[in-house]
Parts: sequence; structure tokens; C-alpha cells
Amino acid sequence: MPRTLNDPWQLAHLHVPNRVVLAPLAGIGNWFVRLQAKRYGAGMVVSEMVSSFGVHHGNEKTTTEMLRIEPAERAGGPVAIQLFGQEPDVMRSAAATVARDTDADFIDLNMGCPVPKVCKTGAGAALIDDPDLAVAVAAAARDGSGLPVTVKIRSGRRAGDRSGFHLAHRLVDEAGVAAIGFHPRSAQVHHKGSPDLDLARELVASLDAPVILSGGMNDPDSIRHAFEYTGCEAVMLARGVLGNPWLFARLLGTRDDEPTTAEVLAELEWVMQRAVEHMGERRAGRYLRKFYPWYVDRIGGSKALQAALQATDTIDEARAVLAALDVVTIAA
Ligand SMILES: Cc1cc2nc3c(=O)[nH]c(=O)nc-3n(C[C@H](O)[C@H](O)[C@H](O)COP(=O)(O)O)c2cc1C
Repeated sequence: MPRTLNDPWQLAHLHVPNRVVLAPLAGIGNWFVRLQAKRYGAGMVVSEMVSSFGVHHGNEKTTTEMLRIEPAERAGGPVAIQLFGQEPDVMRSAAATVARDTDADFIDLNMGCPVPKVCKTGAGAALIDDPDLAVAVAAAARDGSGLPVTVKIRSGRRAGDRSGFHLAHRLVDEAGVAAIGFHPRSAQVHHKGSPDLDLARELVASLDAPVILSGGMNDPDSIRHAFEYTGCEAVMLARGVLGNPWLFARLLGTRDDEPTTAEVLAELEWVMQRAVEHMGERRAGRYLRKFYPWYVDRIGGSKALQAALQATDTIDEARAVLAALDVVTIAA
């Protein structure tokens, strides 16, 4: 029988009900975005990246908002908190806090973020250039938490460089990492260009741990192709599901058509309500301006509609803009 995205698998001792995973998304992947992914079928979800220093120092926003995990999220499979940082002792302490104070099933470590603000501290993708330290950070997270630890990593820092591939092996062999999230683009290109599926396939064939593939996961055909071609354990969806949780359902065969405009608007309303619950009316009004374009794109909304939503300060203003929509002529 050929493998399918619906097949269950094991991550260390954890049962994962299928092979479709929500990727970590900084500033986005909070509890309600993860819960949304789960509602549409994702078998596993990873949080936005959280600073190990913020957790270690007990930063209030970090501990109350970024580490928040809702019980409902865990119903459909494991939930991870992704930590970043380059100090093994700080990572040990942060990982211990995550294990003690949250219901996270495992910890994911960020060794792929290309953003200069993160790399200049030696964290994120910069750890690829310091493999000994990267192994020490991963071992510290494992020892501190007692939870399974996974690492999300790039193919390398620069185009053509395979140092991330080599580090993935060391992380599994020397630090006991339970799985690798592999994004086979170099840090240099950030999120542009095609992921190197040949390198991912080589990693899958040679690594003694599951590989979760990230990069270019935009539509069912290319996702299924990447899954089959590389033999990866699971696929990790990122930009493809922004404002489009229906992609999870399409991949898992629970739906085969595009959502209607009414469904998209109802989903956006669900997001708006959760954002208010998460951060209160005032902050949610501003925060959601990042989310509106994804949903407006999905309904083929006009530039004028996008601009009108970007000009809103409050949820009520945004609701008024949306309520005035004539759904039939929405894209006019
Ligand atoms: C807005 C945004 C935020 C991201 N934040 C994180 C993050 O916090 N941690 C991480 O490991 N990767 C992060 N990534 C990388 C994604 O998880 C994923 O690897 C990347 O977008 C490639 O997948 P895609 O081509 O399917 O979007 C981010 C990507 C985007 C676009």
C-alpha cells in the first residue's frame, strides 16, 4: 500500500494522527492559529518562535501569551513550543519551564531563522555555523525538559552549502534529537526559490530519525509530489495556509473544493473573536491588520477593500467594512 498523508506515525513516544503539520510562524502561530489548523485536520502544530531568554527571565508577555496552549489544541495531536537561543544554560532553563508550566508535548528548536536580528546574537540559522554549540543547545533542551526535542533547520547558510544537512546528522546522533524539520533552502535566500527536494530526499535516506519537510508547500499537487519524492515522514505547511486552513482539509481528503466567500468571512470572524479573547479588543484591532489581507485575497477582494481594512483601528470598524460587502460584486 502506498503511504498517504492520512497515515499515523510516531514522534518519539508521541502518536501523530496524520502527516500534515502546521509550521512555526513568528508573530502568527499563537494558540488560536494552531487551533484553527487543528480544526481543519492538522495532525501536529508548532508555535511561533519564542525566545529562550524571555522564558528564562520570566518575561510576562512571553510566559502568558506566547506559551499559552489551549486544551482543545491538543485533542487532535501533539503541540510543540518552538524556542530559539544560543546559550545552552539558558536553553536548559527555558526548556524546563516549558515542560513544567505548559502542556507542550515536545520542544522544537529554531536553527533556521535567517533574520539578522536573530542571527547576530548567534541564534537561529547562525547555529549552523557553530555545530558544536548547536549540539550543546539541543542536548540542553532535552536534558532540561525531559521532553522530545526536534530541530528545524535550513540546508545551510549560503546557497549550495550543505552544512545544515551535516548538522542534522550530528543533532540526531549526538544530542538525541527526535526529528528534524528540514527547510531545504539556504538561509541566504530567506523564503525565495525552490526548495532542494533532492537534498531532502538524501537526508531522509540517511538520517536515523524522521524528517518533516518544509518549504514551498502551497498546493495539494506539489505537496503530494514533495511527500512522495522525498519519502519524508510528514509535510509542514507555512505560507500556504495563511488565511487558507482549507488546504489542510484538501490534503487530508475531507474536502475537495474551494471555500465559498461566506465560509471565508465566517472563518475570519472566528479569528477576530479569538484574537479579542487572546489580547483584548484594543490590541486585537491592530494585530489583525496582518491577517486581513490573507482572507481578502482568498475571496478575490479588491485593493480598495484591502486598504479599507488596513485603515481600521478597531474590530468594530473592520466588522463594519466587512458587513458592507456586497458578496456578489466583491472583486469589482
Ligand atoms: C511570516 C513567517 C514567519 C516564520 N516564522 C518562523 C518561525 O518562527 N520559526 C521557524 O522555524 N520558521 C519560521 N518561518 C519559516 C516557515 O516555518 C517555513 O519554513 C517557510 O515559510 C517555508 O515554507 P513555505 O515555503 O511553505 O512557506 C516563518 C516563515 C514566515 C513566512
